[in-house]
Amino acid sequence: MDVIRVALAGRGYDVTIEPGLLGDLSRKAETSLASYREGRKIPFVADSNTHQQFGESVDATLRSSGYRAEWFVVEPGEGAKSWPVLERLTDWLLDLGVTRSDHVFALGGGVVGDLTGFACAVTKRGCGFVQIPTTLLAQVDSSVGGKTAINTRAGKNLIGAFHQPSAVLIDPQVLDTLPDREMRAGYAEVLKYGLLGDAEFFAWLEASGDKVLAREPEALAHAIATSIRAKARIVAEDERETSGVRALLNLGHTFGHALEAETGFSDRLLHGEAVALGMVLAARYSARRGEMPAEEAERAAHAIAAAGLPSEISGLSLDCDGRQLADHMRHDKKMEGGTLPFLLLKAIGTAYLARDVEFADIAAFLDQELQRSETVSA
Ligand code: GLY
Repeated sequence: MDVIRVALAGRGYDVTIEPGLLGDLSRKAETSLASYREGRKIPFVADSNTHQQFGESVDATLRSSGYRAEWFVVEPGEGAKSWPVLERLTDWLLDLGVTRSDHVFALGGGVVGDLTGFACAVTKRGCGFVQIPTTLLAQVDSSVGGKTAINTRAGKNLIGAFHQPSAVLIDPQVLDTLPDREMRAGYAEVLKYGLLGDAEFFAWLEASGDKVLAREPEALAHAIATSIRAKARIVAEDERETSGVRALLNLGHTFGHALEAETGFSDRLLHGEAVALGMVLAARYSARRGEMPAEEAERAAHAIAAAGLPSEISGLSLDCDGRQLADHMRHDKKMEGGTLPFLLLKAIGTAYLARDVEFADIAAFLDQELQRSETVSA
């Protein structure tokens, strides 16, 4: 078992990583369950896949300790992060009589965590919640740090709140049944921590990433814990992304977001795959600006390709040019006074925020990348 503290004044919480944790939930979540001792139903939110997969065993472990779960089940996919679902969920929480000192349990990936967290941020002006992430991406990124949101007509995650969970409970064993494509997409965020701030971890991933992807318990636990330690440090330093430190976590996300927008936020390109491509582009663009050697950028691209992640945007067969891709970035919520701060690299393990990037230069760079043949191979 590994316990990592997210040290926030007055609102700090533990992230517990333990194989098999889900089967022992009533003990692992003892503090968060305390207010339900008198027999009230415990609100659990899940999507239909996660509910089908884990619902019965969660019910059984809770029942054996005298607790009773009540489930709010949403359709899988981003569609659940919407006003109508949020309205149904908050009404349901109020009908259940949830109070500010209760905890709502989010069992699932990023969609369930983001939706539940936002519902808890606004229910009675803020009630507690516990994240039980069931994808690698949610375990190493979205469940930690308190970013909660829904999507609207204007874009993804534009309506939301910072609302920290009271605890994050991670069972790496639940990843045994995660589809390989989703595992790789989550692994992109693991690589991100190495690229942005930990060259040693990046080198370890180059050597042992295949073991992580194969879910070898020791390697997987090390990758998850190292990623969360990095995220906990960054969130403790800059909880609300105001000083530029937390912005480092957006490495690859600005380029990636443009690719997601161009592919319609669809299964054609999963979020983690877009981040992987975005990190290759950020590395190559840094090399184009002379800020890091081209060989280092290709080393990053190679690690991404070696994990079976996309590393060349020419492989996406997009029907657009660099200017159209750059135009998607103008809608980014990080735009400030007509410019967009970009996460770039000085070296593997050293990311920084550049505020002098011109959209025209990005468009010209992307035109080149769209023409590039697939040279990086696993
Ligand atoms: N996923 C980026 C962050 O939590 O800040």
